[in-house]
Amino acid sequence: MNAGSVDHLSPIEAQIEYARLAEELTKHDQLYYQEDSPIISDAQYDALRQRYEALEKLFPELVTRHSLTQKVGSKPSEKFAKIKHSIPMLSLGNVFTNDDVSDFVARVRRFLGQAQSLQICFTAEPKIDGLSCSLRYERGMLISAATRGDGFEGEDVTANIKTLKEIPLQLMGEPPEILEVRGEVYMAHEDFQALNQRQRAQSKALFANPRNAAAGSLRQLDAKITATRPLHFFAYAWGAVSQMPATTQAGVLEAFKSYGLPVNPLTRLCTTLEEMLEHFQIIEAQRATLGYDIDGVVYKVDSIELQNRLGFVSRAPRWAVAHKFPAEQATTLVRDIEIQVGRTGALTPVARLAPVTVGGVIVSNARSEEHTSE
Ligand code: IVH
Repeated sequence: MNAGSVDHLSPIEAQIEYARLAEELTKHDQLYYQEDSPIISDAQYDALRQRYEALEKLFPELVTRHSLTQKVGSKPSEKFAKIKHSIPMLSLGNVFTNDDVSDFVARVRRFLGQAQSLQICFTAEPKIDGLSCSLRYERGMLISAATRGDGFEGEDVTANIKTLKEIPLQLMGEPPEILEVRGEVYMAHEDFQALNQRQRAQSKALFANPRNAAAGSLRQLDAKITATRPLHFFAYAWGAVSQMPATTQAGVLEAFKSYGLPVNPLTRLCTTLEEMLEHFQIIEAQRATLGYDIDGVVYKVDSIELQNRLGFVSRAPRWAVAHKFPAEQATTLVRDIEIQVGRTGALTPVARLAPVTVGGVIVSNARSEEHTSE
């Protein structure tokens, strides 16, 4: 969808297309972040976003401070109290091919003025498809929790987060006096399916996918509802920290683990591009059997000193990138084809499929896109 080249566009055409894409992306951001109910797939969203970014690259004069590339997420909902992030919660740049990853590594080297021969270590971590949260611990006690929101201000979900069994209310060991732990709240496939069954039995709206179920479950005004939803958490980053417990990304993850925080076991330290790409393949091969959604692999410069030197550009760090998986595919059998007659008399063929799980969602029907709008 709309992923075609933008090279042939004149400046005026580019301006019109840029405005159209901005409007479309804004609509989908609203559905995704505010209403927890997207109507297009992540791959379709990424394609729109890629086209928008390609236009910016070719026509840099289009970029203003209102551009979507200068923003993260969306404004926190008015329904919640707000929490200002002491350090912004930013996003990640996306890449899609091995060549893009190679360019990323080269960019990091170039920025640091590092010769080819000098080794730079990267962690390769699964990119969890949930919603990011920042948990603030003071003297080891959980005192507040916020969603990312627009990156500067998030929703106060402290009461909700406290209902998650695997998030410690009191950290173990000797954590820093102030520690903001950042990570992803997510829902496992099994729990998502059970939740949707319960929703259906009570004639309530179904969740589109596990990410939306997690977001919808966490962002409840009544934390008692959150308590009935099995949510999980993986810690992978930090905000304000009074004294860093380690000098590397991998070291901080180890420290998190020692404090009793859940850390994803598939993280690996890589010393070469080849190792990074190999780990991408290993994680991709396990994707369908993990039991929760991941949508790529995040590579991060391991040394925190180098991370600090690399810094950020607009809304994303220069020291990390998300290598996204292609849209998940599955094969199944067409059991029957029915022709549905719409209100206007339009005929829509619907394929009845042997149920198959794709990205945590059971698919048992397929209809052609042109016919879905009536
Ligand atoms: S690091 C400054 N690591 O992906 C960058 N993010 O598309 C901090 N995510 O906002 C983020 N798994 O919600 C990081 N292992 C991981 C992640 C991860 C999932 C999410 C996070 C972030 C989004 C960016």
